[in-house]
Order: sequence, then C-alpha cells, then structure tokens
Amino acid sequence: MSSDTGTRPRVMVLVASSRPGRLGPAVARWFVTASAAEDVAGSIDLADLAEIGLPMLDEPEHPAGGVYRHEHTRRWSERVAAADAFIVVTPEYNYGMPAVLKNALDYLYAEWAWKPVGFVSYGNTSAGTRSVQMAKQVVTTLRMVPIGATVALRITDTVHDGQVRADAAPAGAATAVLTELLHVAAALRPLRAPVATDAPVAELSLAPAATDDLAELLVLQRCCWVQEAIVNDTLDIPALHETFDDLRAWAVSWQVWTVRLHGRLVAAVRARAAGGVWEIGRLMVAPDLAGQGIGRWLLAYAESQAPRGTTSFALVTGSCSSRNIDLYQRTGYRITSPSTEANTIVLLTKDRPEPAPESSLQAAPSR
Ligand SMILES: Cc1cc2nc3c(=O)[nH]c(=O)nc-3n(C[C@H](O)[C@H](O)[C@H](O)COP(=O)(O)O)c2cc1C
Repeated sequence: MSSDTGTRPRVMVLVASSRPGRLGPAVARWFVTASAAEDVAGSIDLADLAEIGLPMLDEPEHPAGGVYRHEHTRRWSERVAAADAFIVVTPEYNYGMPAVLKNALDYLYAEWAWKPVGFVSYGNTSAGTRSVQMAKQVVTTLRMVPIGATVALRITDTVHDGQVRADAAPAGAATAVLTELLHVAAALRPLRAPVATDAPVAELSLAPAATDDLAELLVLQRCCWVQEAIVNDTLDIPALHETFDDLRAWAVSWQVWTVRLHGRLVAAVRARAAGGVWEIGRLMVAPDLAGQGIGRWLLAYAESQAPRGTTSFALVTGSCSSRNIDLYQRTGYRITSPSTEANTIVLLTKDRPEPAPESSLQAAPSR
C-alpha cells in the first residue's frame, strides 16, 4: 500500500490542568498504566497543557478556517491532527472544566472532528463529573464524539501523597474507557477521509488503503469478479480466488486506493510502476453503484498518481468484459494485445498525455 495508516489508533492523553502542584499528571500516568494503553493503542501522546503553554487564544481568524498566524497554534494543530482519539484527564473547577482545557479546545477546529473522546475526571464530591458534562457540550460542537464509558475518581478515596492509589482506583474502568475509545475510533476513521469534491456521486471519499480496509476489499473484489466470471464464462480469474493473505501480500507492492460512501467501501483500484509503465488494476465498483461514473473517475485518479517518468498506462480485463473494454476505450485506451493463448484476457494501453522525457521499459501488467 502506498501508505498504511495502521490498525491501532494514536491516542492523545490530554492533561487538562496547569497549576503548580497539580494532580493532573499523576492521574494521567495512572490511566496510561492501568489501561495498559501503551500495549493496546498505536501510540500514546501525553500532552500536558502546562508544558504546551498555549497563551489565551490569540489567533485573529476563526479556527474553522485553519489559517494560523502563530507558531504555537501550528504546533498544537499538528499534534492534535496526528491523534486518532483523545483521553481528556480533567479536574473540576467551580463545577466546570478548567479554563486551560476550554482554551486548548477553542484553538482548533477540524483537527478535533470525527474523533472519539473519553474522560478521566477527578475531584471532590462529584469526582469531576460536572466538568465532564460541561466539556461534552463543547466537544460535540467541535464534532468530537464523546464515548459513554468514563472514569471518575473521588480524590479522597483514590489519591494518597499526590499519587493515584493503584489499590483504590478502578483499573477495570480505565481499561473499559480505552477499549470503547479504540472501538469508536475505528468506526469513525472512514468519516475523516476527505470528501472528494470532483466525484460523480456526492459524499464519496477517496484515500490510500490501510490495513483495516483489506478485509472489506477482499469481499468487494470477490463480489465484483463474480460478474467477470459470468460474462467471461470462466472461473479461472485470480481476483476471484485470492485469499486474504494473497491480498495482503500484493497490497505491499501496489499502491491501493479505496473509495467509501458514508463509511461503506464501494470502490477500489491499485497501481504500480514497472519501468515507464503505470500498471493499473483491480478497478472495482460495487454493483449497486455501477453506471454512475465512479469507475471512470477512479481510473482518472489512478492515472493522475503515476510517478514522473511514466510514459504509458496499462491494464488488463477479460476479453468478454465488454462493459470494461468500452469504459477503457472511451477514456483513450486501445487493445494492444488481443488476448492470451487461452483467449481470456486483453491488454489495453494508453500513452500518458504529457510525454515524460525518460525512456521506459515496457513491462506486461499482471492481472
Ligand atoms: C480553582 C479550583 C476550583 C475547584 N473547584 C472544584 C469543584 O467545583 N468541584 C470539586 O470537586 N473540586 C474542586 N476543586 C478541587 C479540585 O478537584 C482539586 O484541587 C484537584 O486536585 C484539582 O486538579 P489539579 O490538581 O489537577 O489542578 C477546585 C480546585 C481549584 C484549584
């Protein structure tokens, strides 16, 4: 795959208090240990708002525009954007969230969106829960998704000598919060893929395939190539027989892009360079969305990703796949090798519109 975003979400653990002598870092450390977060999450970024030291919001533009004048905002933006999920470790100040937390949230906008947030609160009688209630109404405005599982520590019951007492604090609750957070993070990931503005169907998002996509990709591939088997009257089609391991193996050497509609995987394509030839394959569109231009759009996208030095595009399809052949011919491909000995597949090629200077090796594409 061209880039693998990995299967395990990156979790930011946000320490939301900043006063000298605060309890926040100790609670955060307890949470990370008790939940075994470093073993379970892709990575943990312990983000201490006291160390980060953001001034009171000093950006002239609304953060929704993503135009940041100050270096401290750009650093904060990068850090938050890199996270897939958040644990906010927060005390309760005067029945509400600490100002430093509200300020840190207000600094950014899109960086928070469509990511889950879990709360670990602490305080006196209410164990910080009123702070969490207030924070929830703010984070939902930012399109964050608060999870239901929570940890709420009453300081008198759980803290001794500035440390959370392992025997008194509920490690099971910490694990439950992290488990639910990762669960929701996986479900939300497709929502964060940018919606393609030039797509023929509204709300399509296109992204490099990640490991998490491969199981669904296998199902879509089988489904799409059943149709190929019918029109070509053969079951001798690799795409029909591949196992999950086969798919995982080729996904390493090919760049793969997936298209989702409201989270559902609906199309995909792969490509790789072989000399000056940009081999494109496994172009697939879910049958219920066929005929709406998604295949053509995705093919154009795959072509646009060809590296410098590419002189031509090549792809193969079944010799009886007239619908595919029509699509390819309409987009400038021509049949360069009529069929294999077995008369089952055709090779189609097209010159790259802007000729690249380098000479190229012509390599036969694999199906
Ligand atoms: C300004 C301030 C306001 C507080 N308000 C509350 C409150 O409303 N409810 C509560 O349970 N504890 C309250 N506390 C006590 C905190 O829960 C306790 O001091 C806690 O350790 C604060 O977190 P920190 O040490 O990370 O700053 C307040 C503490 C401070 C400093």
